[in-house]
Amino acid sequence: MTAHITALSSMNDDSTVKRMLHINLFIFGCGHHKAAWRHPDSAVERLGDIRYFEELAQVAERGCLDAIFFADGHSADNVGDGPRWFLEPLTAMAAISRATKQIGLISTVSSTFYTPFNAARLVASLDHISGGRMGWNVVTSMFDAEARNHGFDAMPEHAWRYARAEEFIDAALGLWDSWADDALRIDRAGQYADTAKVTAIKHKGAHFRVDGPLTVPRPPQGHPVLFQAGASDQGRDLAARRAEAIYAVAYDLEAAQAYYRDIKQRVRAAGRHDPVPIMPGLVTYVGSTMAEARVKQRELDELLPSEDALRQLSLYVGQDCQGWELDAPVPALPSLQDFTGPKGRYATVLRIIETEKPTVRQLLGRLAAGGGHCTMVGTPESIADQMEHWFNNEGADGFNLMPPSLPGGINDFVDQVIPVLQRRGLFRKQYTSSTLRGHLGLQRPVRRSD
Ligand SMILES: Cc1cc2nc3c(=O)[nH]c(=O)nc-3n(C[C@H](O)[C@H](O)[C@H](O)COP(=O)(O)O)c2cc1C
Repeated sequence: MTAHITALSSMNDDSTVKRMLHINLFIFGCGHHKAAWRHPDSAVERLGDIRYFEELAQVAERGCLDAIFFADGHSADNVGDGPRWFLEPLTAMAAISRATKQIGLISTVSSTFYTPFNAARLVASLDHISGGRMGWNVVTSMFDAEARNHGFDAMPEHAWRYARAEEFIDAALGLWDSWADDALRIDRAGQYADTAKVTAIKHKGAHFRVDGPLTVPRPPQGHPVLFQAGASDQGRDLAARRAEAIYAVAYDLEAAQAYYRDIKQRVRAAGRHDPVPIMPGLVTYVGSTMAEARVKQRELDELLPSEDALRQLSLYVGQDCQGWELDAPVPALPSLQDFTGPKGRYATVLRIIETEKPTVRQLLGRLAAGGGHCTMVGTPESIADQMEHWFNNEGADGFNLMPPSLPGGINDFVDQVIPVLQRRGLFRKQYTSSTLRGHLGLQRPVRRSD
């Protein structure tokens, strides 16, 4: 099927507007290239300085991006290789929300390690603090080292994690609905809140018991926007049933289309008519000429120590790769069905091997920036061309930008690529809404008990 995507999509106020790209900035340390922190221009000394993140968010807001996004993990592995986690993301969002005015703020929340009450309370508070700009990316987490920080001996089984994730989401949504929008009366001579409009949820399931109501009145957006990034069957089904926007890993248009069509079909099968924008990750090296862009890429690649890269590859493929010969072809790997670890990234590794037949060294280079997400290297026009092509051909509704280096990579994108997209009418020139829901063209949910 090569159907051209319809040029119109519906917005909150039921008017129709031209379909436009959605673009998030995925902020990760000094950038998504594993060696970015080693570069003399990196801000590696500032990773505990919230002003660094505020400045990045301000650049993204200058470019009118939909949102910034933080991933999260719960273990401090391999810290000798480079920075991974530093500031806890929800805490950081509180500060960033005060340093920005319109851009959306999306943080990852683990349904395996949080309880729905904690998560709903934190995210609802941030939605109030930011005036309706919060989103949460629900993940089931991946690594045993994380599980061992939360009372498990190892990461619980994939199916268990997804069953818990769905119940987790339902309980959190229930808690956000436990206060009616007009529950606060604030009548100094009478009631503070109308108790008839603040109701228990009495959730009792296989994983959680949550009585409610929440301690926080209904968030400004009703529900902060739910992102998900499922790659397995269970993950895709959860995303299709519950997510309001979806992150994806697609290293080329063909992979992106396969994911896009599958998810849209699952969304329809779930009886949903929401837009559910799909946003694959995108690594860009922008230069005024192709040669200049390639120099930027090579500069980072050359900073990559191959031993660290092999250790990272071992995590992706679930076996020790340290002895692999760098200039030999990649050894045979188990099929996707036989692989028991996180399947999304593994499927990407298999696909790169299948289509590019790389040596181990070439595979490491490909994975060093963004772990198999799409990479576009070139001039602002050529990158805009490719983004437009994906957008118009069922590859993406937008992109989750993963600059290989920060702040350079996002400055390049905002200063050079965004104006091209704007000139082509593919991206907003100014914000037309003050909430993340508004930026994404999503309806505000009606309270379920109304
Ligand atoms: C853009 C993006 C961000 C992600 N962020 C996180 C994260 O912060 N923490 C995490 O444990 N997993 C994260 N994941 C992994 C996904 O939640 C999911 O586990 C992965 O895509 C594998 O899919 P599966 O769980 O369906 O097997 C992310 C995935 C993508 C594509």
